[in-house]
Amino acid sequence: MKNIDWSKLGFHYTEPDYIVRSAYHNGVWEEPYATKDKFLHLHVSATCLQYGQEAFEGLKAFRGVDGKIRIFRWRENAKRMAKSAEGLYMAPVPEELFGKAIRLALDKNRDFLPPYGTGATLYFRPLLIGTTPRLGVGPGRDFEFIVIPSPIGPYYPGKFHCTTFVVNRHVDRAAPYGTGTFKVGGNYASSFRATEPAHAQGMDCLFLDAKYHRYIDECSAANFIGIRKLKVESLKLKEAGKLKEESFLIEYLTPRSSAILPSITNDSLMTLARERGYKVTRRHIRLEELADMSEAAACGTACVISPIDKVIDPEKDKIYHFGDEPGPVLSELYHALRDIQFGRAEDKHHWCEVIKN
Ligand SMILES: Cc1ncc(COP(=O)(O)O)c(C=O)c1O
Repeated sequence: MKNIDWSKLGFHYTEPDYIVRSAYHNGVWEEPYATKDKFLHLHVSATCLQYGQEAFEGLKAFRGVDGKIRIFRWRENAKRMAKSAEGLYMAPVPEELFGKAIRLALDKNRDFLPPYGTGATLYFRPLLIGTTPRLGVGPGRDFEFIVIPSPIGPYYPGKFHCTTFVVNRHVDRAAPYGTGTFKVGGNYASSFRATEPAHAQGMDCLFLDAKYHRYIDECSAANFIGIRKLKVESLKLKEAGKLKEESFLIEYLTPRSSAILPSITNDSLMTLARERGYKVTRRHIRLEELADMSEAAACGTACVISPIDKVIDPEKDKIYHFGDEPGPVLSELYHALRDIQFGRAEDKHHWCEVIKN
């Protein structure tokens, strides 16, 4: 075990012993291998540098309450990376090769896997880049797949904390049917001019759909979730046992958009919400509908759920409030997912791959 103060780790890079690499030439992926060398010998005209042929992923391994190691839903990350690759005209990394590389990165960096109880985890950053030298505009034929592991600290070392989001109508994250559904570096670079000024004020950005600036798209690097309590008169729902409270049905709302990243955390939370009898709705959500929501949050691998205390819309001189404490529905879902990841609850959906110690 490395001599690391796990409780002091944030969401920052800690140099691992090994990274894992695999190159693609002439239509063939090489066997992934571990190396201590963290530098690439890359041609200055590589298509990743010239034309942004780059995609990445983010996933975690957890040390569970039972001492076992669990990798959470890595196949979903592999599938999403294959879509990102196709989106940027790159060779997709085969799912089994993706899994092999993650397992090798874990195996070679076991000492970096934080112990149970610290809340810290081992994060993997798979990366895919185009390496063919090329000056004429066009895609490359050669690629490199790399897995960079790094231990990261608990997102909430103490108790949950809430984030304030600010609406920005001057910068769009991604266009409808553009690259927003892919996890590619360009989406992030192009958002910095909105997110950095927001961060400097202790806030984060809520992006609206780029076409109308009417519907909620995404929180800067996370999906949006809102909770509504629907008053229900229908006795039928009561009889079917679908009512959580006296006369309310809880609705889990999340945006449908052709410009947002399909979050694996959001997908997992939707499943857990359905299991609890909540209504799960994915549709266009108008910004003004925030006024009807009792809870709101950003969700993603890093934080699971990051509750939102308020959304500020400076241009409309409007503030939507959700309270200074995380609400009960999102707190429940947060703990339910964390319990599965840390082996404290049954993994009914087989989301975790348990690794032999
Ligand atoms: C733009 C964006 N949306 C959503 C997410 C959340 O996705 P996931 O839950 O798969 O981490 C992320 C983080 O990966 C992201 O960068």
